[in-house]
Amino acid sequence: MTAQLIDGKARAEAIRNHIHLQVSERLKQGKRPPGLAVILVGEDPASQVYVSHKRRDCEQVGIVSKAYDLPATTSQQVLLDLIEQLNQDATVDGILVQLPLPAGLRADEILEQIDPTKDVDGFHPFNMGRLAQRIPLLRPCTPAGIIDLLDTTDKDITGMHAVVVGASNIVGRPMGLELLLRGCTVTTCHRFTKNLEQHVRQADLLIVAVGKPGIVNSEWIKPGTIVIDVGINRTPEGRLIGDVEFTGAAARASHITPVPGGVGPMTRAKLLENTLFACESLHS
Ligand code: GUN
Repeated sequence: MTAQLIDGKARAEAIRNHIHLQVSERLKQGKRPPGLAVILVGEDPASQVYVSHKRRDCEQVGIVSKAYDLPATTSQQVLLDLIEQLNQDATVDGILVQLPLPAGLRADEILEQIDPTKDVDGFHPFNMGRLAQRIPLLRPCTPAGIIDLLDTTDKDITGMHAVVVGASNIVGRPMGLELLLRGCTVTTCHRFTKNLEQHVRQADLLIVAVGKPGIVNSEWIKPGTIVIDVGINRTPEGRLIGDVEFTGAAARASHITPVPGGVGPMTRAKLLENTLFACESLHS
């Protein structure tokens, strides 16, 4: 392997330690702790794991996490009413609705119901719009975490050709906006992209967020490229792997994120950062 590993686990731990200190300082000053409401609808096993990690992180840093576990049969209106109640609750700084929602629930309407100052996922059109207009407020966690990781390297990404594979609302789209903010030339590839290989070969910075192992062939990666793998996939043997074949990619890349221990921990760290920011800057 020639690539330098980008250690998301270590960086996330440093962020959590810093947040813990800031929360402790608030408490010493007699202020209330930050509060995060985490809503999980249904019993998707992967979502249950992600949510339990988010709740554990909160506990570690002194953020009060409020759990709302609802059955898959929950109606759109019940969910909208719960969000409205949390919007009005002065002890709640952040509201997170774990995605995907069970079939039949309209995520776009539910996310838009969240008070934009409590939208710690950054998915509300208000926050996505602010990011698009270069005035970000609450930034989507995964792309913000990736920018943070890139800042830990010795590379300046200004002017780089960044190729983002995946155009989801959660990662690909806001990622493109973050990279534009940092002066990259951005190509976004998606399911209708013709000749993915030709685009990937152009990348100085490659970000893959599809959720399909092997979607990018490591032989397409130009030597010296920075590779960020957002995919989290479970093999039949139960091992976690990314979207990019690691060994081949690491032999070509200058820097690469591992799976696990790369982007995943950073998404969770940015959620804590957003919650503290909402508490300190938007609700006091
Ligand atoms: N599902 C997958 N990633 C995310 C995320 O970052 N936030 C939420 N709310 N749901 C997700």
